[in-house]
Amino acid sequence: MWLCGMLGLLLCAVCGAAGELHSLRYFHTAMTDPGPGLPWYVIVGYVDGEIFVHYNSSARMCVPRTEWTVANMDQQYWDERTENAQRSEQINRVSLVNLARRYNQSGGSHAWQRMFGCDILEDGTARGYYQEAYDGRDFIAFDKDTMTFTAAVPEAVSTKRKWEEGGYAERWKHYLVETCPQRLRRYVENRKAELGRTEQPEVRVWGKEADGILTLSCRAHGFYPRPIAVSWVKDGAVLGQDTHSGGIVPNSDGTYHTWVTIEALPGDGDKYQCRVEHASLPQPGLYSWERSQSILVPIVVGVVVAIVVIAIVTGVGFMIYRNHAGKKEKGYNMAPSQDGASSSSCTGSNPTI
Ligand SMILES: *[C@@H]1O[C@H](CO)[C@@H](O)[C@H](O)[C@H]1NC(C)=O
Ligand SMILES: *[C@@H]1O[C@H](CO)[C@@H](O)[C@H](O)[C@H]1NC(C)=O
Repeated sequence: MWLCGMLGLLLCAVCGAAGELHSLRYFHTAMTDPGPGLPWYVIVGYVDGEIFVHYNSSARMCVPRTEWTVANMDQQYWDERTENAQRSEQINRVSLVNLARRYNQSGGSHAWQRMFGCDILEDGTARGYYQEAYDGRDFIAFDKDTMTFTAAVPEAVSTKRKWEEGGYAERWKHYLVETCPQRLRRYVENRKAELGRTEQPEVRVWGKEADGILTLSCRAHGFYPRPIAVSWVKDGAVLGQDTHSGGIVPNSDGTYHTWVTIEALPGDGDKYQCRVEHASLPQPGLYSWERSQSILVPIVVGVVVAIVVIAIVTGVGFMIYRNHAGKKEKGYNMAPSQDGASSSSCTGSNPTI
């Protein structure tokens, strides 16, 4: 039953409302009966419908879920988020017990959810919200205009009173009106830089002869984003058959590598070319195996391609890339300041219900 409520909340994370330009959403879910092997407490954060941060009670760690969060947040950021999330997990373990008592429940499957976050609208203004549900039904919500918590059911009235007296209305208002939109704007910038980033593949072609078969191997290293087309060309025609690909594999620095081999007749090596299509290349690159200068040629080709790319890439594109690279070089100086400590991203802690 509570699942319906959760799906409703999740849908609003993904679709968003009319007039909304960007959105930051956090979902906390606590379950009495999560199912075998599943964590009972889960936190998920979304920027523009994309999951960017995750926490669960099994791993007990806040972890990045996108490249742009990896690239822009430092270890201190994750330590603080983890600490806050662990605190929130402990608080809401007690809340589940309190809720069961308040509803006279002696067992069974029950779930509590919190959804909060903010939108940046098309007119540049921001809108924040905070609500909680129990077993899929509204429980309590925060109204930042009146600075009050609204009890949706009689069982929530004592919670409302406790939180208002504890000063949580001021903290949440500050978070929803100031902190949340600030962070959302920064996350959107980080994400945009990441989405616009391209890294050129470094392409090498090798040949190896064994048992009367020449195996040509074409490897592309260090490219971003992931989509790439590597194929073998002979006499101007793309060869689909007799090629083998190693798949597209991630590198630890966030780039990818891949390779494609083809079997040829010994002595035919010069007739083959490796063709690479990638977003970072203005036009598909062609690479040959040159036995005599097998190391030099790819380097020369690479340099020529690099010069062409630099000449072609627009000033704006270059600025975006430089901006991104600059941030990385500064040693992750992009760590957010600790504003709104009571309700930072992976938490949103309140006292118990
Ligand atoms: C819990 O979190 C860890 C670390 O992020 C992750 O590897 C694991 O898949 C998560 N478990 C579930 C059930 O989502
Ligand atoms: C729980 O039980 C108490 C006393 O037995 C009763 O007054 C109260 O109305 C019950 N609440 C609910 C939600 O059933």
